[in-house]
Amino acid sequence: MLDLYKLARPALFRIDAETAHNMTLKAMKCGLVPCVDTINAPELEQKLWGLRFPNPVGLSAGFDKNAEVIGPAFQLGFGFIEAGTVTPKPQSGNPKPRVFRDPQNEAVINRMGFPNAGAEKFKENLEKFLSAKARPNGVVGLNIGMNKTQKHPAKDYCFLVRLLAPMADYLTINISSPNTPGLRDLQQRQPLMDLLGAVMDTRAKSCRTHTPPLLVKLAPDLNATQLQEICETLIDANVDGVILGNTTLDRPESLPAQFREQKGGLSGQPLTDKSTSIIRDFYTISNGQLPIIGVGGIASGRQAYDKIKAGASLVQLYTGMIYKGPKIAHNINQELLDLLKADNHQSISAAIGSAVREG
Ligand SMILES: Cc1cc2nc3c(=O)[nH]c(=O)nc-3n(C[C@H](O)[C@H](O)[C@H](O)COP(=O)(O)O)c2cc1C
Repeated sequence: MLDLYKLARPALFRIDAETAHNMTLKAMKCGLVPCVDTINAPELEQKLWGLRFPNPVGLSAGFDKNAEVIGPAFQLGFGFIEAGTVTPKPQSGNPKPRVFRDPQNEAVINRMGFPNAGAEKFKENLEKFLSAKARPNGVVGLNIGMNKTQKHPAKDYCFLVRLLAPMADYLTINISSPNTPGLRDLQQRQPLMDLLGAVMDTRAKSCRTHTPPLLVKLAPDLNATQLQEICETLIDANVDGVILGNTTLDRPESLPAQFREQKGGLSGQPLTDKSTSIIRDFYTISNGQLPIIGVGGIASGRQAYDKIKAGASLVQLYTGMIYKGPKIAHNINQELLDLLKADNHQSISAAIGSAVREG
């Protein structure tokens, strides 16, 4: 079959990365989405937090910052979509250019700084999606963050929990983008305890009939002590899960000089092993008590499976789709079915953490 993405890719790669992304969003909004066969396989299904995930492969935050293309993204075969990061007020983010590709290493560096249309527009777009007659089969997570000018982070997170919790299948507290000054400091024990206390309290007060699970998205750049402290804090605060992780500040020597000098967070293939390793560490120290969504450098079924075996219940990707194209979720799910079969696992659930248990 003719692969249109292979034909379009050289042209897309000649233009600035963010412009190419905006063109993709426009095309998706117009319904220009490639036809991807749906894989309906009971082996890939999972019930987690009371939600039914038709497959474990999700689109991670940053792709659909304003919740504009949730419906079309599901048509690409993802089991769940995480929209955002949204902040209470609209903001323009850092000066452009702010997204850089390194095709040789299938990597991206971005320093976007949460450009988005703000919470009201996000809610309006989400309502449009939710009110459509036939809602696609899949889970919608909402990723929330704070405005750059906010001095009291809990105010922004609590505002967004109040506004969006009723519409969310799950909520993600993003405290790990490297491009908002001070954001990653919220991962320290006391600020994290304070923030989670406020957010959990707000969720309890604002959700009467529907309480979405609350996840925290962490950086992959945490040492063992920090990870241990955060793990204890998350369990004490009764959060429902963790996303590991965001982009990294690392700059491997192997990256071309011009690219590695760019400021921002690195994603894609150079992040694959680092994020798998932090998933394994977190799964081990938490004794598998908190479900993990594994993300970072997934571009194949094998890479997704490695994260699941290291302890991830679900996986997400973004950069992989830039390089492999819109059929990536479908292809990964197909490969996962083969890998499960080869290992004699009846389901994804049976494979979660298997590499840690087997040592
Ligand atoms: C251009 C770009 C923008 C991103 N924006 C966000 C964001 O707004 N919120 C967020 O939580 N993560 C954001 N991320 C991080 C991704 O969700 C993901 O955690 C990270 O890129 C690692 O996964 P990947 O290697 O599959 O891209 C962004 C990543 C990229 C490349």
